[in-house]
Amino acid sequence: MIEKTTKIRNDFQSRIASVTGLADLESVHQDFLGKKGRIQELMQELKTVPNEKKREAGQLINACKQFMESLLEETQEKLEKKEWENKINSTGTFDPSLLISREQGSYHPITLIQREVEAVFASMGFTIEDYPEIVDDYHCFEALNIPPFHPARDMQDTYYLSTGQLLKTHTSAAQNYIMRKYGAPLRAIFPGRCFRNESTDACHENTFFQMEGIMIDENISISNLIYFMKVMLSEVFGKPVEVRLRPGFFPFVEPGFELDIKCLICGGEGCPSCKDSGWLELCPCGMIHPKVLEYGGIDTEKYTGFAFGLGLTRLAMMKYGIKDIRTLNSGNLKALSQFN
Ligand code: PHE
Repeated sequence: MIEKTTKIRNDFQSRIASVTGLADLESVHQDFLGKKGRIQELMQELKTVPNEKKREAGQLINACKQFMESLLEETQEKLEKKEWENKINSTGTFDPSLLISREQGSYHPITLIQREVEAVFASMGFTIEDYPEIVDDYHCFEALNIPPFHPARDMQDTYYLSTGQLLKTHTSAAQNYIMRKYGAPLRAIFPGRCFRNESTDACHENTFFQMEGIMIDENISISNLIYFMKVMLSEVFGKPVEVRLRPGFFPFVEPGFELDIKCLICGGEGCPSCKDSGWLELCPCGMIHPKVLEYGGIDTEKYTGFAFGLGLTRLAMMKYGIKDIRTLNSGNLKALSQFN
């Protein structure tokens, strides 16, 4: 048995050494590890080995099998890499879709939640808009009724470029552009990455995601807003979520509110993620200030509208039970790839 196993192992090694391509490799795989392969042959023979020697012989065959499997895998990786390089060299261009990876990637939790929220709003007639991350002062502040001297700017310090442009502090920066692009009536959501000069902790990050939504039409009131938010949250969490509205100040809405949801991590008892309050600020919102509508070219005699700035990052933390916001930007695949 020992001799036979050693011979099979040697045969295998010499076959592997002369393999030229993936198809060839597959036939080696079949010949040795396939249903009618030589390892299977050995297993049949094992039945005839006397009982006291069975254990040792079994271990020997197993070790040989493991050796083959790992050598096959190693050779496959080498061949794939070679084939890929050949393809690049023969076309002279880099096409990332040629990359053969046997390890599948996964979506980031923010992407997952963004798609879910987009689908809910799209089903209610909202369009999904895109807007750059580098914006000018006018769109980020002035068009939102935040003049240069206004103290509301203190809460939204950000990263400024030498051109005078800045990294947007909130998705509201796109409001003016979208109002001008479509006019009224209008229903749109616009997700985006936002940046602020923040001291980071379990619930603050300098880079995070929001999803802005605006709806402008005749006779729009805050009850429309509450309706849309409740529908969206119950779809995302698959159950009714407790919410509360508090007054909140933002220069671009009047009246303004904070929409909080009961912390789903501690169930309202208090934990670091909700700063021990049991509630999480999820969605500042309000009725769009008439000045902001005017800047957007909307007829304020005829139209009103609501706006909300949903914290997508917070929502992802709630939905997936992520306790520390910093995990999301960590690039830690172990933590981030478990939600698909
Ligand atoms: N842009 C605000 C912020 O990020 C949130 C907000 C959006 C408030 C829309 C009201 C209406 O702080």
